[in-house]
Amino acid sequence: MNIVVLGAGAIGSLFGGLLSQKNNVVLVGRTPHITAIKTSGLTITGKTLTTVHVTAEDSIDNVHIQPDVLIITVKSYDTEEAIQMAKSLITKKTIVISLQNGLDNIEKIKKTVDIKNILGGVTTHGAVLVKPGLIRHTGLGQTILGELTDENTTRVAELVSLFNEAGIETIKTTNFLRELWIKTIINSSINPLTALFFCKNGYLLENPLLMNVMNQICKESTVVAISEKITVTYEEMAEKTKEVVRMTAENYSSMLQSVQRETKTEIDSINGAILQMGGKEKRFLFVPIYLYKL
Ligand SMILES: NC(=O)c1ccc[n+]([C@@H]2O[C@H](COP(=O)([O-])OP(=O)(O)OC[C@H]3O[C@@H](n4cnc5c(N)ncnc54)[C@H](OP(=O)(O)O)[C@@H]3O)[C@@H](O)[C@H]2O)c1
Repeated sequence: MNIVVLGAGAIGSLFGGLLSQKNNVVLVGRTPHITAIKTSGLTITGKTLTTVHVTAEDSIDNVHIQPDVLIITVKSYDTEEAIQMAKSLITKKTIVISLQNGLDNIEKIKKTVDIKNILGGVTTHGAVLVKPGLIRHTGLGQTILGELTDENTTRVAELVSLFNEAGIETIKTTNFLRELWIKTIINSSINPLTALFFCKNGYLLENPLLMNVMNQICKESTVVAISEKITVTYEEMAEKTKEVVRMTAENYSSMLQSVQRETKTEIDSINGAILQMGGKEKRFLFVPIYLYKL
């Protein structure tokens, strides 16, 4: 299958690198990383150990395959610009999958791509770009793919098989929005606090005050999800959030890493999107506005 990965940073390179072993993959990313891959291949360390020689380009104009699948892995704030740039590659047959965090990526992609061509994706793998050409696979996770219409389709089944064959443990869902909300509620509860307090994820369970705030954010985010007709409960989400904190106790969240690098964070697509929905009918006064806009 022809696959283009748009935004070959940490997670895009991990997925693209693994998929390239059985598919025709082109990674599209920034020049230093792409030059290193062209010179010495893409090396993945950590939970996966491999070096792959995968086609990589630093401009979409140099991509000369027609993708069956276009995987979007830019940060959420880059989605609109990236998909616009890739527009010429997308045909009626191209399936566009976002593996990004945040609630607003599909809306952004929809402005350029017919909704029928878009599939939802969520992944709990962890990866960091250590230096150009080198990715560390920091955490094994699961990937979930599904139709936005919740239908059980052959194309989802085929892509689930394709990902699994590449060693990416993947399942299908017939309730994609619920999966996206679950990940977003967890992110909204953990990431901003770690970024504000410059702490590892695990500290949120060690400090009673921060644990309390984390639970409060989790509760508010869950209330907004429920108001959007997502079938979640606070008890379920509080438990899942604590579980993620325990599993990633030694990690610095991506939001904290962005703050440390003094680059933009994805807060607008996570807490910002929840805040917008919660505030929409002025039902929720205590959505964590104080955490919004890191
Ligand atoms: N990393 C993880 O463990 C993980 C896990 C699950 C989900 N996610 C989600 O996946 C998305 C990507 O995360 P990430 O950690 O992989 O981010 P990342 O390492 O910053 O990768 C994104 C890459 O895309 C590049 N880029 C931006 N616009 C581009 C364009 N128009 N053309 C080509 N390349 C472009 C970025 O370059 P610049 O840096 O120069 O902008 C960056 O190298 C986020 O939504 C994140 O929340 C990440």
